[in-house]
Amino acid sequence: MKHDEALEAIGSADDPLAASVQVLQAGFEHYSWVGIYLVEGGDLVLGPSQGPEATEHVRIPVGQGVCGAAAASGRTEIVDDVNADPRYLACFPSTRSEIVVPIAHEGRVVGEIDIDSDRPAAFAKEDRAFLERVADLLAPYC
Ligand code: SME
Repeated sequence: MKHDEALEAIGSADDPLAASVQVLQAGFEHYSWVGIYLVEGGDLVLGPSQGPEATEHVRIPVGQGVCGAAAASGRTEIVDDVNADPRYLACFPSTRSEIVVPIAHEGRVVGEIDIDSDRPAAFAKEDRAFLERVADLLAPYC
């Protein structure tokens, strides 16, 4: 799927958060599992997700894991080899790389997009730029 088509599908959906995980997971082969975490107090709580399996990590304290690091810093995290990153909280044995993109609204992090890939080093700068645009679209809905 083309990036612009995905942005259009997500932006025009009735429920953009739910649509985003469906469109991203179905539309991009290297996005194996896609989830949205929402900030609730000091925790990240799993919202919509799509992939072959459900994750046990439905609540992650801000500051823990790759997800918690991105929420704490407000910066996108790309992990080319999850097994080499001591922060990584394992969800699926098949995961080789991960990207976490914070969703900021009115100056604070309100959620994030978390994508696991079964491919090593799956996430390039094009994925980062695209997913940061998706995050901007989702910000008012978190
Ligand atoms: N790997 C994440 C935890 C969430 S699962 O990937 C769904 C982390 O290290 O924070």
